[in-house]
Amino acid sequence: MKTVTITASKSYDVIVAPGIRNQISAYLSAISPKSTAVIVSDSNVWPLYGADMECNLRASGITTIHYVLPAGEASKNANTYLSILNFLAENHITRSDILIALGGGVVGDITGFAAATYLRGIPYVQVPTSLLAMVDSSVGGKTAIDLPSGKNLVGAFYQPSLVLCDTQMLDSLPDEIFRDGCGEVIKYGVLYDRELFMHLLDRGIQFDRETVISRCIELKRNVVADDEFDRGPRQMLNLGHTIGHGIELHSNFMISHGKAVALGMVIVSKAGSRLSICSQEARNSIMEAVKKFGLPTRTSINAHALYEAMLVDKKRSGNTINLIIPEEIGRCAICPTQIDNLKSFIEAGL
Ligand code: GLY
Repeated sequence: MKTVTITASKSYDVIVAPGIRNQISAYLSAISPKSTAVIVSDSNVWPLYGADMECNLRASGITTIHYVLPAGEASKNANTYLSILNFLAENHITRSDILIALGGGVVGDITGFAAATYLRGIPYVQVPTSLLAMVDSSVGGKTAIDLPSGKNLVGAFYQPSLVLCDTQMLDSLPDEIFRDGCGEVIKYGVLYDRELFMHLLDRGIQFDRETVISRCIELKRNVVADDEFDRGPRQMLNLGHTIGHGIELHSNFMISHGKAVALGMVIVSKAGSRLSICSQEARNSIMEAVKKFGLPTRTSINAHALYEAMLVDKKRSGNTINLIIPEEIGRCAICPTQIDNLKSFIEAGL
């Protein structure tokens, strides 16, 4: 078992261990005694783990109710969000109760945002079930829903009270979804940790789960401690994301997040190497790692379409957008880029 303590506006533990979900009652009793636990999950995850979790909590005397949303990014919208809030209100949930996000990134983000805003804030726990959610979205307090014009355009910074990463749950993930999360794992190696990157390149999908997941969380902990509200160094975590979000949006979310981030990393490293920012070695290694994990290295989307999709990025500031460009494996730079130069940058990376 590995524990990483996040220190931000609220301190909390992220616990990484196989089977840790079965100890949720003990953790919950310590955080929020006598509360009703509202489990929010989705139609894929609930049938696998929902009943077990409810039994576990009820056996310890914790009252539970649950809300299950349709699986998929399309659910992360204002209607589902309002429906969760109404569900909480109709069930007389108060600030002394607690939400549990049992699912991947969509469930974690929307549950976190409901927790941040219902009654101006009630506690919540993340139980991420996907690799992507374990290493990224469940940690650090970014909560959000999508608007038709873009991903995560409405949200709040609101830290959970606890994150339980049960690595056993990864066994139930379809191979494609597991690989999708690998896009984020590779990202941490490219950003901060050459040793982690080399382990991934060497072992591919057979990487050591507990070690790699907890290492990614430690790396994220360092960033969140430095810049909880994303005004400076936290922007580094957007490596591959600015272009990736454009790819996701243009494909109407048919291209998944991890694939889009992997493609985004390939595109920025290729363009960065043409501008002599990214070394040849880094560019080639990123390409090799993305291929090794079965993630895409090419897209049929053209530069103009990608550029248009990127203009709604929430991190755009006036006429400038900050692109994160690898220099070497383990070191990246924040490069403010004029919108006028963005299209030619993308062209250089495709
Ligand atoms: N997912 C990027 C961040 O948490 O800042």
